[in-house]
Amino acid sequence: MIRNDIAKAVEILRQGGLVAIPTETVYGLAADARNPAALRKIFIAKQRPIDHPLIVHLAAVAELSNWARDVSETAFALAHAFWPGPLTLILKKAQDVNELVTGGQDTIGLRVPNHPVALELLRNFGSGVAAPSANRFGRISPTTADAVREELGNEVDLVLEGGQCRVGVESTIVDVSGDSPVILRPGMISEAAIAAVLQKPIGSKAKNAPRVSGSLESHYAPSTKTTLLRAEQIDDLLATEIEKPLAVVSLRDISVEIPGVFIKKMPQNAADYAHDLYFVLRELDKKQFKQIIVEMVPEFSEWDAIRDRLQRATSDSA
Ligand code: TXA
Ligand code: MG
Repeated sequence: MIRNDIAKAVEILRQGGLVAIPTETVYGLAADARNPAALRKIFIAKQRPIDHPLIVHLAAVAELSNWARDVSETAFALAHAFWPGPLTLILKKAQDVNELVTGGQDTIGLRVPNHPVALELLRNFGSGVAAPSANRFGRISPTTADAVREELGNEVDLVLEGGQCRVGVESTIVDVSGDSPVILRPGMISEAAIAAVLQKPIGSKAKNAPRVSGSLESHYAPSTKTTLLRAEQIDDLLATEIEKPLAVVSLRDISVEIPGVFIKKMPQNAADYAHDLYFVLRELDKKQFKQIIVEMVPEFSEWDAIRDRLQRATSDSA
């Protein structure tokens, strides 16, 4: 039984403090989105560059117009279809939104998270909370309260307990501030699911991004050297005198036992894989492996978000 002091969390937010909150995607580091001093604390705690905009979390679709202007039918259609849920909409910002939230841009990211603890907090707080993932900048997002404490234990005033996040990777981000919607970050709400609601194809910035991992910005990354390889490449590598101990995150049953090689078998379906991914990487990262080798996941679109995160986790261009 999870017991949280929501009243205390609300009080901390009102006082300008930081509360870590569970959401269905990953844990967030929440502050009052109307309080610049509180917002500044987020950037300090995460060591995040000040021009990176924050997502504002709301209790319900009805609050959208307090934060955004010129909200199109497309935007409302997506909000009604997917909220509460793992979708962030980028909209033209309302005039009074603090520039720490928007990174000085004319747009704002909004979402209604689908987690009972987050929703109870938001309803009781009565306004929006800005919440990036509750990790230090560039590192893996936390999917448990323990992981939040490991990342930011001393920097937050309260960590709300919400169990392991159901989705496990960050929300799909769709920019609906322009003429046609564009996916900026793939998530477990797929391009196909969005296109089905809009009844038209949707563009994806992520699609045009370079596919080779080395040219992507390093993010969501373990501290241990982490490499993404195809199954045959892994087999070839394990046949060499590669430095050990090492961990292999695999979709297959690798039955040969090799001293110093730890095999972590992952789920075969994308939703279960996403649920486990950050938890697994975080656990492996604690174990002093010389290297973590991750087997490439299928090219099917349901794996887009996972492939994106793996490519970033294994990119060493900081
Ligand atoms: O699932 C999620 O989205 C989690 C949970 C806590 O809600 N949050 C999350 O926040 O992943 P964060 O800050 O780690 O990532 C938010 C991303 C950043 O890449 C940021 O640049 C982008 O959203 N973003 C926020 N506002 C934006 C805006 N106005 N325009 C473009 N991108 C924006
Ligand atoms: Mg993040």
